[in-house]
Amino acid sequence: MGKVYLVGVGPGGELYITEIAKRLIESADVVVGYKHALNVIKNIVDKGYDEMREKSREKSEMAKREKKDVRMITLKTQDEVYAQLLDYLKGKDGEEGEKRRGREREGERKGEGGRGEKVCCILFTGDPDFSESEIVDKLVSLFESNGIEVEIIPGISSVQVAAARSKVAIDRSSLITFHVTGSIDREKDALLNTLRAKRPVILLPRPWDFMPQHIGRFLRDEGIDVDAFTVDIYENLTLSNEKVTRCKLADIPDRDYSDLCVMVIKPSQQQ
Ligand SMILES: C[S@@+](CC[C@H](N)C(=O)[O-])C[C@H]1O[C@@H](n2cnc3c(N)ncnc32)[C@H](O)[C@@H]1O
Repeated sequence: MGKVYLVGVGPGGELYITEIAKRLIESADVVVGYKHALNVIKNIVDKGYDEMREKSREKSEMAKREKKDVRMITLKTQDEVYAQLLDYLKGKDGEEGEKRRGREREGERKGEGGRGEKVCCILFTGDPDFSESEIVDKLVSLFESNGIEVEIIPGISSVQVAAARSKVAIDRSSLITFHVTGSIDREKDALLNTLRAKRPVILLPRPWDFMPQHIGRFLRDEGIDVDAFTVDIYENLTLSNEKVTRCKLADIPDRDYSDLCVMVIKPSQQQ
């Protein structure tokens, strides 16, 4: 019935994609992801396609296979695409699917390989096990309840990169994501408790209502000594437009930030 891999592709830079993620993506029948995640793997997919075309030129009877089936999702379309993926894996994807299976059978008959089991990679930026639980839980339940195996492939998280840039040990810090739907009261409490205990925090702001300047104001209003902490604000980590702003928690600039943003807040004496 096929298999689904939930694949972490890292924070964006090509050098931060793991070898196993590359191999799975190269060999997958279908690759699904948001625009940012698909951009990260664009070269892998294109390279695989170019190599395949090169081979087909060398051996004219070799498969004239189609370009990899890459499906972009948005918040609006994702549920529909996941449902289509389920049908595809179960072989219930209608006329188009029947045509494709016909072509594959033909390919196999000609000795061009092919396999019964379909493999789909659903991409996640960073690591699927950080700040993705709403969607990961939903996907695991959707596919496993239909008898389709799901495996999670870890990736390098944006929080790992931020920790490395700031030289802050992850095991001595609290990791908090505000990138959730609905209330963030629990996360706000966790942030206050951590700073009151004078521990470092690595956090993901929430586009666009709880960004760095809002977080600075919130902490001041809640009585945190904002002069006693420094903050490193990372935007677009590992990408060519990566940027860092280092300042006191009291002095967070009130400006626009990228939605790809991680903050590392630490007690000043740790500097
Ligand atoms: C839904 S969360 C996904 C986090 C991801 N699973 C991870 O491990 O990095 C999306 C948020 O991750 C953070 N993020 C992802 N990639 C980033 C990057 N290259 N630079 C800075 N922040 C990034 C941003 O805070 C972004 O809004």
